[in-house]
Amino acid sequence: MALSSSFLAAFLVAAASSVSQVAHAMPGSIVMRATSNSSIPGNSSSSSPMARVCGPNTANVTCLNRYGSLLPPSYSRDPDPSIGYTGAEVPDDSSWSLVQNADFVLFDEKRGLEILGSAPKISRGIIPVLNVIHEAPVFVPGINKLFVTQDGPPGNMSMLQLDLNTDPPAVSLIETDPPIYQPTGGLYNPKDGMVYLAVHGNNGSLPNGQKQHAGIARFDPKTLKAEWLVNNYYGFNFAGPNDLTIDPVGDIWFTDTDYAYVIGVSESPKQLQLATWRYRPSTGQVQVMDTSLDYPNGIQFSRDGKTLYVADSGLESYNPVPTRGAGDFYNYPIRIQFNSTGPRNVFAWDVARKGQDGTHPVITGKRVVFQSLEGAPDGLKIAANGYLVIAGGLAAGVDITDELGNQIARIQTSHPVENIQWSGDDLKTLWLVGIGGITKVEFDLAGPDLANYYN
Ligand SMILES: *[C@@H]1O[C@H](CO)[C@@H](O)[C@H](O)[C@H]1NC(C)=O
Ligand SMILES: *[C@@H]1O[C@H](CO)[C@@H](O)[C@H](O)[C@H]1NC(C)=O
Ligand SMILES: *[C@@H]1O[C@H](CO)[C@@H](O)[C@H](O)[C@H]1NC(C)=O
Ligand SMILES: *[C@@H]1O[C@H](CO)[C@@H](O)[C@H](O)[C@H]1NC(C)=O
Ligand SMILES: *[C@@H]1O[C@H](CO)[C@@H](O)[C@H](O)[C@H]1NC(C)=O
Ligand SMILES: *[C@@H]1O[C@H](CO)[C@@H](O)[C@H](O)[C@H]1NC(C)=O
Repeated sequence: MALSSSFLAAFLVAAASSVSQVAHAMPGSIVMRATSNSSIPGNSSSSSPMARVCGPNTANVTCLNRYGSLLPPSYSRDPDPSIGYTGAEVPDDSSWSLVQNADFVLFDEKRGLEILGSAPKISRGIIPVLNVIHEAPVFVPGINKLFVTQDGPPGNMSMLQLDLNTDPPAVSLIETDPPIYQPTGGLYNPKDGMVYLAVHGNNGSLPNGQKQHAGIARFDPKTLKAEWLVNNYYGFNFAGPNDLTIDPVGDIWFTDTDYAYVIGVSESPKQLQLATWRYRPSTGQVQVMDTSLDYPNGIQFSRDGKTLYVADSGLESYNPVPTRGAGDFYNYPIRIQFNSTGPRNVFAWDVARKGQDGTHPVITGKRVVFQSLEGAPDGLKIAANGYLVIAGGLAAGVDITDELGNQIARIQTSHPVENIQWSGDDLKTLWLVGIGGITKVEFDLAGPDLANYYN
């Protein structure tokens, strides 16, 4: 059952006591139009519930009428972004509980059922983890392993390695050589067989005299040998490279945010404006690409390479005072604040190529394509068919939209989801990793073959 874990129960209590309730309906301003169309939601005793059971019975699947955009006026929702969509209250439509208890919620029934296939399945709690953020899930096809990083606790040098050759996977803790402190974004590059990491840990007193600034590193998943590629911008240290992707000409784009400082794995506050950057492995150059987002986060290109997507998770931001965590939802106190009116959007840009050799990127036409239903968008990935899969950040689930941001479905978990990754021969297993949890989903929405990502 979604949202029933002790984690969220504790979190809801903490959030309710610290945030005033302001999300009440406008007084007396909504007149429900009489209608003969029974699929338009009215109230619980009418014949038109907003949600109904639908699809295959291998999981709890709920179809929502008309995106739930007309609720009985008695509905309310606490604006705290850590309170999920399912935390809304809809007392006059009992079918709302189907949404709250669903594994999969379909907004666009036709395309949603295509995504689910004939036997969708969700497996919760199969990997025991610490109550910290899990991130950077990277699938390496040849050896059939999934690497997952953990953000914190401070000082921890380990990464999880899930050997998918057994079911459930065999889990071990690994360290690269040399150890890389606190990576939080990752990708597998089939061209050189290496795992690339966005590393936000900044620490001058690691074991064995090792020092590290945040940046971009890579390791060989077979030997675990690691090396650094980038660790500064003309002498300034990055706040914390958060996620990364490789574009069609082989350049690495990464987002820089100061969540490392927020969660206590960086010694230094930010020195640079938070931004989206491009690193050229061919020359070593690092160039700024966009400075318009508050907290640039997940980043991907569409499969034709012509659209850039970047998430802005700015409603989760730095707070000088450690106020959250230590029992309410994290292993230890962290400096984070939630502002429900802050940014929680995914943006898209058109990408053109200019310059002497025709490889210099120019991004134009910035537009917002999606606003998170809960939390703030964190990691995002593109499916084989071009759909966006957007992790909920603080919130317990992921949203699936088409390439224009139209909501199709969501997957609901019992832990917040920071990032996602497909695995398997058919790339139809999706791993959702986040705070205090790793969830496995098997359905029909295939991941892209990274060796042929750009088409
Ligand atoms: C009733 O609503 C459904 C779903 O939105 C729609 O397909 C159908 O055309 C509507 N029928 C009428 C008579 O408006
Ligand atoms: C809900 O709908 C029923 C049947 O259509 C109606 O009798 C009842 O008054 C409605 N209740 C509210 C609170 O609007
Ligand atoms: C659906 O949810 C109910 C109630 O939480 C649970 O008992 C049942 O096992 C679930 N069904 C599936 C297929 O997961
Ligand atoms: C690091 O995290 C792992 C869990 O993934 C835990 O078993 C280990 O004790 C931690 N080590 C330190 C030094 O915190
Ligand atoms: C830096 O690393 C040391 C040694 O592992 C650890 O004790 C400390 O908490 C870390 N500090 C930060 C800010 O990551
Ligand atoms: C919340 O975010 C909005 C929009 O970014 C900003 O105007 C406002 O000042 C923020 N409030 C707080 C308390 O930080």
